[in-house]
Amino acid sequence: MASGQMSRDEALECTCCRHACHVLLYSETASQLFGRIPIRYIVLMQMRFDGLLGFPGGFVNPLEETLEEGLTRELLEELGVAVPVSKEDHVESCFSPPRSGTYSSSSRLILHFYVKKMEEEQIREIEKAAASTAADHGLEVLGMVRVPLYTTKSGGGLSCFLSHSFIGVARSQLMNSLLRLHLVSPGDLQEALRSSQR
Ligand code: APR
Ligand code: MG
Ligand code: MG
Repeated sequence: MASGQMSRDEALECTCCRHACHVLLYSETASQLFGRIPIRYIVLMQMRFDGLLGFPGGFVNPLEETLEEGLTRELLEELGVAVPVSKEDHVESCFSPPRSGTYSSSSRLILHFYVKKMEEEQIREIEKAAASTAADHGLEVLGMVRVPLYTTKSGGGLSCFLSHSFIGVARSQLMNSLLRLHLVSPGDLQEALRSSQR
């Protein structure tokens, strides 16, 4: 387990910690950009109220709800759809790194990260609801965004997306998930990362 990481059960033993759950929702798609660049997958992130990119989700209270119930409640507020998330969708739990980037048990926020695969139609419904009926629309959530997984001839796409600012560890959560789920090859991700730092 990487530094700062713990199992879901270990994390729940820390009763004096605050807990927050976030999820990466994605689906396959046959859509093509400009009718020729395959989009392949829809991966959802959000523009947060603080101008940073992050994943939908938020603070949960394990004394009153399970982590997954709390996450589903947050998703209803932020997306306008109560997407059911289960223990099986849990990927990792870790202490939220303080600004210095170093992990320590004195960090009082534990982050729980989930990944859930959906049908394209469900993702489209979420996008519609998030931009209309969601309670947090235009407030805590400025809008949902899709992650471009391709690279255009001019070098745009994933590399430009990665050069934006992300909340906490959201950028590495995104990159790790793209690799683990085989949504992007290690070579393509490395190249996108290199160009994003140029
Ligand atoms: N990596 C690290 N930290 C994260 C990540 C991430 N990927 N995503 C969110 N956080 C942090 C946030 O900075 C925040 O401290 O987790 C905490 C909870 O996440 P949010 O989604 O921001 O919480 P939410 O319950 O949706 O509501 C936002 O938080 O900042 C306050 O007052 C503000 O009421 C608002 C609330
Ligand atoms: Mg919220
Ligand atoms: Mg939130």
